[in-house]
Amino acid sequence: MGALDLAGIESAARARVPRDIWDFIEGGSGAERTLAANRKIFERFALRPRVLVDVSTCELGQTLLGTRLDTPIGIAPMAYHRLVDEEGETATAQGAGRAGALFVTSMFASRTLEDIAKAGGPRWLHLYWLRDRAALAALVERAEAAGFGALVLTVDAPRIGRRLRDQRNGFAVPPHIHAVNLDADLMATSHRSEKGSSGIAEHAREQFDTTLTWADLGWLRARTRLPLVLKGILTAEDARLAVEHGVDAVVVSNHGGRQLDGAIPSLAALPEVVEAVPAELPVLFDGGVRSGTEAAIALALGARAVLVGRPVLWGLAVGGADGVHQVLDLIRDELDHTMALLGRPRLADLDRGAVTDWPCPT
Ligand code: FNR
Repeated sequence: MGALDLAGIESAARARVPRDIWDFIEGGSGAERTLAANRKIFERFALRPRVLVDVSTCELGQTLLGTRLDTPIGIAPMAYHRLVDEEGETATAQGAGRAGALFVTSMFASRTLEDIAKAGGPRWLHLYWLRDRAALAALVERAEAAGFGALVLTVDAPRIGRRLRDQRNGFAVPPHIHAVNLDADLMATSHRSEKGSSGIAEHAREQFDTTLTWADLGWLRARTRLPLVLKGILTAEDARLAVEHGVDAVVVSNHGGRQLDGAIPSLAALPEVVEAVPAELPVLFDGGVRSGTEAAIALALGARAVLVGRPVLWGLAVGGADGVHQVLDLIRDELDHTMALLGRPRLADLDRGAVTDWPCPT
């Protein structure tokens, strides 16, 4: 029998993945307060079921920025999937494709964009803004040619958060795993391992453009016809600026608690961002979602789609493409079940009326 919830897949993955890689995946920054709060905050919400509604079929499909999706649960961008599976992102793309789920591929993918595209499935490409704009422009061009449907620029990482687990472990990307979509020269520091520092953080210090401001977005815009999504928006102020700068969608995210420790939990930021933008601008959400019930809460608070991070790597570690498919389907099935018992069989029915405060101390 397959796992009945994600906890089973998580413990199977933990048993397989080497300790320093597990710490890299699971860890957050600083005292990991934001990491913990991303999970805890879901307990603050209760669902308000309606009855005597025809729930014979629930509709979970939608078109998002021109990309057709069978499920509102997608995969958040995560670097180096080959850390947990030899096939890496090609397996992830296969699993996502079978689930009809969005795969936001990291710029630091360990398989080529072209191989990922061959595996099929709906895909967008994530970017960090590198100092080397020529490398950035080349990647954008390749993404367009390989059928990636949107660009997701992550804006919460001018530096990499202080991830103490990685610093203690002297974590670096193992020498046989590469960010193959970028030049080896550009990536050299990410492989340098030293106790007390992290190769990933060193690399970002060297390559990320910390001077980036709103005014620079036009440069990227001018180089692509793809929709532009900003990931890492946590305030109404920045959501309004994103709209003013013509962004096509935003992702409410604190990077899974890996960047600014003490930052507002993702779910707490979602309502103010949703309120600040026009109703037609898609707001996506990530951070701490571990079940269909939690996905339903985020959708009810205004998210158009929910991205999931770490659980996808658990699935990949345990079962390759099948494992990724299993994780996505499990959350989707739980969501389908939740929508039926909530009496809200369409995504559009999941509105603020579907949630209320949890009425007693948890
Ligand atoms: C990430 N995340 C991330 N985000 C991003 O914008 N670019 C990246 O390259 C990465 N890489 C990455 C690696 C690993 C191992 C993890 C766990 C996360 C953050 C990711 O996109 C997402 O915001 C969070 O993971 C969502 O939280 P959950 O679902 O993991 O709790």
